[in-house]
Amino acid sequence: MRLVLVGPPGAGKGTQAQFVAAHMSVPQISTGDIFRANVSQGTPLGKQAKEYMDAGDLVPDEVTIAMVRDRLGEPDANRGFLLDGFPRTVPQAVELDDILADMGTKLDVVVELIVDDDEVVRRLSGRRTCRSCGHIWHVDFDPPSNEGVCDNCGGELFQRDDDKPATIRHRLEVYAEQTAPLVGYYGERGILVGVDATGPVDDVTERALAALRRFDHP
Ligand code: AP5
Repeated sequence: MRLVLVGPPGAGKGTQAQFVAAHMSVPQISTGDIFRANVSQGTPLGKQAKEYMDAGDLVPDEVTIAMVRDRLGEPDANRGFLLDGFPRTVPQAVELDDILADMGTKLDVVVELIVDDDEVVRRLSGRRTCRSCGHIWHVDFDPPSNEGVCDNCGGELFQRDDDKPATIRHRLEVYAEQTAPLVGYYGERGILVGVDATGPVDDVTERALAALRRFDHP
């Protein structure tokens, strides 16, 4: 299955992507994670992306699209994939269609995670991410047993630079202006499904998997 998760910052895309990708046996491809890995390794791509990410702006389309084209060309993406955080603009969506057409395939479904702005602020201000395994925690909603330490691997938890209140507000504006139009783009094609992303994580996963079953044609 080839699917995209779309939704505002903090909707739970990364959290749900881990479960849904494992359930579907497809690789999770998160553009935010790829950029953050490049930033922490100090690669040329990371240096290019960092100033945009810190400001809560989108990395320019040409940089992001080239990166995704390369990633989708890797063998593990042949059988399917879950894209988390891409596309994020209509030009990215058009390019994704072209990349998939070149591969002789197309998207099966786009899942929109729906959550309001107040909940986004609550979620992002308490988010902690593991430096080693990437697992996502929340200080109130999904706290680790020991503060600052990942239960999964013992790694150190950190707070993202773009989770400061002013940057969160700006990211929400960027989402409304540049990413929300994708809902119409995919809705017109009949491959969009909206999922209520509020409530416990497991309930959201159940709703997402139930929605996906309607699109999972062998
Ligand atoms: P990216 O990493 O994609 O950030 P984002 O879209 O802003 O989304 P987040 O990762 O902040 O949130 P999420 O929806 O994954 O929520 P999470 O699961 O962590 O991108 C970062 C930056 O990279 C961008 O700003 C941009 O600069 C650049 N970039 C990336 N892709 C790009 C692209 N295509 N084009 C251009 N630039 C790009 O959950 C949040 C918190 O809530 C966690 O603490 C979690 O534990 C908690 N939580 C989750 N679900 C629940 C629940 N049901 N109940 C309670 N708490 C919950």
